[in-house]
Amino acid sequence: MDYDILMEKAIEVSKNAYVPYSKFPVGACVLTDNDKMYAGCNFENASFGLTICAERNAIGSAIADGEKKIKAIAIYSPKMDNCFPCGACRQVLHEFKADDDFEIVLKQGGKLTFYKLEYLLPEGFNL
Ligand code: THU
Repeated sequence: MDYDILMEKAIEVSKNAYVPYSKFPVGACVLTDNDKMYAGCNFENASFGLTICAERNAIGSAIADGEKKIKAIAIYSPKMDNCFPCGACRQVLHEFKADDDFEIVLKQGGKLTFYKLEYLLPEGFNL
């Protein structure tokens, strides 16, 4: 898989973020085990706690389309190098990762960087 394409989609969708309060746009794009891509951006609310992160928006679109497992996610903010997923999104990624090869793709300067979920969320919660 060419992760540049996944990141390009994350960059593109970050332009649609609804962020009147934080002014911090984020875009994400997931790659499923069927090699489909789903993008999502963050959208905020005057009741701040209702904000939905870009990662969970992208995953929600994949789930709504019948996908169950994701192989990779690209995450991007124009405001931050290496925009890591928040703790809540790490647990949601844990739920839907296809396997331990799952890749988190970020961008630092002009270059892609790669992280493993086990590094960002050791011992994620399972039922
Ligand atoms: N945000 C995301 O979309 N993903 C993250 O993993 C970090 C935080 C959003 C939520 C809020 O709209 C803004 O970034 C600032 O917290």
